[in-house]
Amino acid sequence: MSQISIKNTGPLRGELVPPPDKSISHRSIILSSLAEGKSIVRNFLYAEDPLSTISAFRQMGVEIEVGAIHESPVQTGRGGFQTSPYIGDSRIALPETEIIIHGKGLSGLKAPEGAIDCGNSGTTMRLLCGVLSGQPFSAILKGDASLTRRPMKRVIEPLSQMGAVFETQNGYPPLTVRGGELKPVHYKSPVASAQVKSAILLAGLYCDGTTSVIEPEKSRDHTERMLKAAGVDITINRLGVTVKGRAKLNPFDITVPADFSSAAFFIAAGILIPGSEILIKTVGINPTRTGLLEILQSMGAHIKLENAREVSGEPVADIYIKHSRLSGMDITGDMVPKTIDEFPILCVTAALAQGKTKITGAKELRVKESDRIAAMAAELRKMGVNVEELEDGLIIEGREKLQPAVIQSYGDHRIAMSMAIAGLMTDGETTILDTDCINTSFPGFMGILERLQK
Ligand code: S3P
Repeated sequence: MSQISIKNTGPLRGELVPPPDKSISHRSIILSSLAEGKSIVRNFLYAEDPLSTISAFRQMGVEIEVGAIHESPVQTGRGGFQTSPYIGDSRIALPETEIIIHGKGLSGLKAPEGAIDCGNSGTTMRLLCGVLSGQPFSAILKGDASLTRRPMKRVIEPLSQMGAVFETQNGYPPLTVRGGELKPVHYKSPVASAQVKSAILLAGLYCDGTTSVIEPEKSRDHTERMLKAAGVDITINRLGVTVKGRAKLNPFDITVPADFSSAAFFIAAGILIPGSEILIKTVGINPTRTGLLEILQSMGAHIKLENAREVSGEPVADIYIKHSRLSGMDITGDMVPKTIDEFPILCVTAALAQGKTKITGAKELRVKESDRIAAMAAELRKMGVNVEELEDGLIIEGREKLQPAVIQSYGDHRIAMSMAIAGLMTDGETTILDTDCINTSFPGFMGILERLQK
C-alpha cells in the first residue's frame, strides 16, 4: 500500500493536459461493443476503472485491441493492471492511447465464463446491469470491497420493471443478472444519476418501442450524446430522455477529451496557492459536469476559458486559472449533480475561503467510492478545520492555513487527491496513506504536481 508526502514549495506554474475522461472512456467501450463493426477510440483513459469495462466486454467475446501506449515505465496497480502509460510531464500532452473495438452488434455478446469483476468501478457495474438485462444469458457481477458496499437497488428497480431478474446480497453486489425479453418503461428516477439513467437507456435499446427516463435534476449526458452519434433515435428534453429500441448502432471514431474531474484538482490548487498560474488544456467542459467552475467563479476565482471548441460531440476548452481569494457560499439544488465528483476538492477550497460554505442536498456523496461527507469532515478536522457534518452535506468554516496531518484516503481516489492538494496549504509535511487508489482515474497525478512545483 503506497503513501505520498506533500509539502508546499511555492506557486504552481505551467501547463498540463489531464488524463482522458473516465465517464466517456467507459461509454466508448460499451457502445462500440454494441455497435456493428470497427470503432476507434483515441485518447482512452488507460486507468483501472475503464480497464474493468474493457475486461468485461472481452469476457463477453468482444475483440478489443489496445494501441499506442507504454511510452514510459509501466507500473502495476490494484488488480494487477498496468496503469501508467503517462509521462507525468506537465509541459507536454499525455501520450494518446488508442483502442480498437470490433463491435458485435446488440445481440452479439456471449455469456461470460465466470464472474465479471468490475473492480472499484460503479459505472462499469451499473451500466453493465443495463446491457446484461437485454441478453439471453445470465452473468455474475462482482467488485472490490468499496463497490460491494455500493447500492444497486437504484438500477435493479427499473431494470426489473423492464423484465430482468436480479439476485443480490440485499441490494448490494455481488449480483446475478438474468436477462431476457424486455418491455419499455417510462421511469421517473428518484435520484439524479447518470449511471441509473444510462443503465435504463442501454436496456431500452433491447426493447420494442420507446423507453424514457426523467430525472429530478439533470445528470451528465455523455451516454445520450454518444448514442446520438451512433445513430440511435434519441430525444432529449430538459430533464427527460427517450430512446427508441431495436436500434442498430453505427461504429464510431472518437477522441476522448481530458477529464474535467481530474482537472479539478489543479484548478483548485492554482486558485489556492499564492502566485500560481496554470493552463489546463483540452478539458471537457460539458455543462452537466462543470458546476465547480460556476461555484468557484461565484466564490471569487479568476478562471478563463480559452479556445473553446467541440471534439467528438463534446465541448472542450483550455482552462486558465490564477491565484484568487475566495469567499464561502451556499451550494445546493441543481448545482449538486453537475459538481458531484468535485465535492471533495470543493471542500478543500471551502476550507481556505473567507467565511462559511454550506453544502446541502448532496446525500449521494455518502454512497460514492467512500462516504465522502464523513471522510472529508474527518480529514479536514485533522488539519484544523471547523466542519459540521449534515445528513446531506457539510458546513465548512474557512481559515487562512491548514495544519499538516497524517490523512486517510479511505481507498477513494478523489479523497486521496483532494487531501494531497490540501497538503500544499500547510507550513509542514502532510502524509496521505493508501494512495494506490489514485490509479483508478489519474495515473501520473503526482508526476504532474511535482512538475508544476518546479
Ligand atoms: C458517473 C456518474 C456519477 C459519478 C461517477 C461517474 C458516470 O455517478 O459520480 O463518478 O460515469 O455515469 P452517479 O450516476 O451515481 O451520480
